[in-house]
Amino acid sequence: MERQKRRMKVKRNRKISKIIVALLIVCAVAGTVCGCGMFPLFETDLEDGTAGKDDDLIVIGYSQLGSESIWRTANTASMQRALTQENGFFLILENGRQRQENQIKSIRSFISQRVDYIVFSPVVSTGWDTVLQEAKDAGIPVIVVDRMVDVKDDSLYTAWVGTDSRVEGEKAGYWLEQDLKKRGRQYDDINIVILTGTEGSSAQMGRSAGFAQIASRYGNWHILDEGCGDFTPAKGKEVMKEFLRDYPDIDVVVSQNDDMTFGALEAIHEAGLTTGIRGDIMIISFDAVREALELVEQGEINADIECNPEQGEAVAEVIRKLERGESVEKKNPIEEKVFTISNVGLYMDSRTY
Ligand code: AHR
Repeated sequence: MERQKRRMKVKRNRKISKIIVALLIVCAVAGTVCGCGMFPLFETDLEDGTAGKDDDLIVIGYSQLGSESIWRTANTASMQRALTQENGFFLILENGRQRQENQIKSIRSFISQRVDYIVFSPVVSTGWDTVLQEAKDAGIPVIVVDRMVDVKDDSLYTAWVGTDSRVEGEKAGYWLEQDLKKRGRQYDDINIVILTGTEGSSAQMGRSAGFAQIASRYGNWHILDEGCGDFTPAKGKEVMKEFLRDYPDIDVVVSQNDDMTFGALEAIHEAGLTTGIRGDIMIISFDAVREALELVEQGEINADIECNPEQGEAVAEVIRKLERGESVEKKNPIEEKVFTISNVGLYMDSRTY
């Protein structure tokens, strides 16, 4: 009965949203909106033509943090594939556009719509306690996806499905350790620069901490500098240019996602240098999207530490269990690999993103 009431409210709100969006579109067409990007890339799902049909659907309010990378697009697509009406879900998707305040607004709107579950990928890890307490007080379970939150009380979320960034950072360190040994360079001075992702995100902090932990074992590994490339190619290129200007002798670039790596590669090539297995600078990247794996195959990127975006099915499974009244694991890490020229060929055919 309670669920029935919530669904009626959700439908009412969707109708209101639809009218508002229609008005905004009219304004935009009339030129009264100044092209300042006011429409979200992923619009809230406004389908309301299913009246009377979707009463049994589980309503999910999902706040994706943005659309900054190829990985993020694949992650969103994975959620959309799993949380379909055919699978019993009604997905309301909002794009946070890299801003925590947008995500908090979305979560508050999901609470007022009385959705059945709130799912969100937090752009940064702290600052969620108040809004998650509001969700808890409203009796709405919260599932954190992809990145992690840092909250005082773990009961503010029901489960987390995502990737372990610290382990990813460690894998990058272990890979470098092994590769230097193979090349007989383990005693050489190794100059390293790090392109970091969005500051304060668990992806950035975990990868930095994991790599730093392995690096601290080696007195001859010198981390010359770290610079924030915000997980985007443009910023990655900009920061890499600065590194190349400031440090003439870089041996290794650790780039915390493939998008920044693409930008960094441009900067390196423009500086007349080469990368990869036979190049001047070794590249360790994260994510392992198809375009980057092709560069691993060509020997341009030495190693790509996978961050697996295929998280939708695991989220759907957590929700199904909760619906059946079963207990769920608090932490649900997704499996990940490390790709190098020796194994990448095995995975190219199945890489869809
Ligand atoms: O949180 C996962 C990270 O966020 C991915 O490495 C990156 O590409 C994305 O933007």
